[in-house]
Amino acid sequence: MEIEVKEGYIEKQGVDGIILAIFEKEKLQSKSAVMRIDNLLGGLIKDMVKRGEFKGKLNQVVAFTTRGAISARHIILVGLGKRDEFKLDYIRQVSGKSMSEATKIGMKRVAILLEDIKGFSVDSISRAYVEGGLLSVYKFDRYKTEKDEKRDGLKGLWLIREDERDLEKIEKEARIGRIIAESTNLARDLANQPANELTPTRLADNARRLARDYGLDCKIFVEDKIKKLKMNALLGVAQGSDEPPRFIILEYNRKGRKNGTIVLAGKAITFDSGGISLKPSEKMEEMKYDKSGGSAIIGVMRAIALLRLPLHVVGLIPATENLPSGSALKPGDVLKSFSGKTIEIISTDAEGRLILADAISYAARFKPDAIIDIATLTGACVIALGHNATGILGNDDRIIALMKETGEKSGERVWELPLWKEYDEQIKSDIADVKNVGGRPAGTITGAAFLKKFLPDLAGGEKTPWAHLDIAGTAWKEKEGPYLSKGATGVGVRLLVQFLMDYIDVSKL
Ligand code: BES
Ligand code: ZN
Ligand code: ZN
Repeated sequence: MEIEVKEGYIEKQGVDGIILAIFEKEKLQSKSAVMRIDNLLGGLIKDMVKRGEFKGKLNQVVAFTTRGAISARHIILVGLGKRDEFKLDYIRQVSGKSMSEATKIGMKRVAILLEDIKGFSVDSISRAYVEGGLLSVYKFDRYKTEKDEKRDGLKGLWLIREDERDLEKIEKEARIGRIIAESTNLARDLANQPANELTPTRLADNARRLARDYGLDCKIFVEDKIKKLKMNALLGVAQGSDEPPRFIILEYNRKGRKNGTIVLAGKAITFDSGGISLKPSEKMEEMKYDKSGGSAIIGVMRAIALLRLPLHVVGLIPATENLPSGSALKPGDVLKSFSGKTIEIISTDAEGRLILADAISYAARFKPDAIIDIATLTGACVIALGHNATGILGNDDRIIALMKETGEKSGERVWELPLWKEYDEQIKSDIADVKNVGGRPAGTITGAAFLKKFLPDLAGGEKTPWAHLDIAGTAWKEKEGPYLSKGATGVGVRLLVQFLMDYIDVSKL
């Protein structure tokens, strides 16, 4: 889709539809664009507001034809809700809602009016419009042999500013918004693909191709190499499947090490059946999205390469299936992980933490200043936080505080759970260094407590600053949202890209 930033009057643009976002319970202001247009329409908008047909409630959409009153054939009014309740994410929402309406009507090009909203910069608003718009037109239809034609219809989104103030900033942010949204859509595409299609090998092929296209360094460890390295936790999970595992390394900007190195580790279970601790069959098909963490990392690496962030970032993606078979891992088995620590397997369904344990301890090779991992790790996180917040736990208050801030900005909110050392009791094993399940209480926390055991030391002997993101509840949508459709959400891309952008600013202080 083409995104263009233009200066001028919105009613004069050569587009099929114009989108006007309006706050609830506010009179049309004289001399405003909406008022000007309303005059051309003979007071139609005012009339609709008076009759209560358009109230401006958040995400309310009313579309009508202009019948030649202005050059665009359609106008879409969309509600922003009450001004004093406004959040930046509402821009993504109204953008998504109005783009869906435009698509339904069959429009090719639409223009959105960019107005100032007190307390928010017009460039951040532009970015949000672009993100919401591009995220909302995404559709996973590669297995539909009959495509919905209207879906491919929308070709252009124009952002219209009435004066030339801030035009350059707006253009810059619109570009950032585009990069972030398209990278999120890439992550959604990977996570949405069925497990017969996106095996660990194919995921690695995707990563390699991405690295080639965007100038990243890429290493892919195949089974022999994984064996040689003694990543036995990853191998343990993989041993039940006929598909060989892969360990994917994507590296961006090694030369930027002086500004800091961050390792991002993402769980990529291309299908989680539970293994011998087999899951119930209901909704098991959704477990193809157990690769959402790894998919998000691939999206993040693409975005930061295009954004040229002045940091050194390494993405680690352990990838395997988790299946039951005659050779599968069994409850009671003991594995010696890459770190040397031994793990007693209680449930083969707690496999994400096993493959991440090896990735997190492997991160030591890059001497990171911080490690962030992201995973659809626990069903317990869905119970605790539902689908509106990603769980965050870690050992570093500054990283967690920054991530919370970033969550608000990016529209991908996080909520912290405690990681007190008392929880370690639950994962003590009688026969090994640690066990992979801590019972039913505080399942998300004991998952993180397990990962914590595998953190490398910093040069000074302290543990590497780290945060863990549990996206089990946020990586998949069962209902259509204002700008995210059913299926994989690509969660983590917007959050982590913004985090890395802000981390640079904070670490400069
Ligand atoms: N992939 C699942 C977690 C999950 C559940 C993600 C639901 C998304 C939706 C993970 O591998 C798993 O099965 N975890 C177990 C851990 C338990 C055995 C300690 C769980 O949550 O039941
Ligand atoms: Zn599992
Ligand atoms: Zn899993």
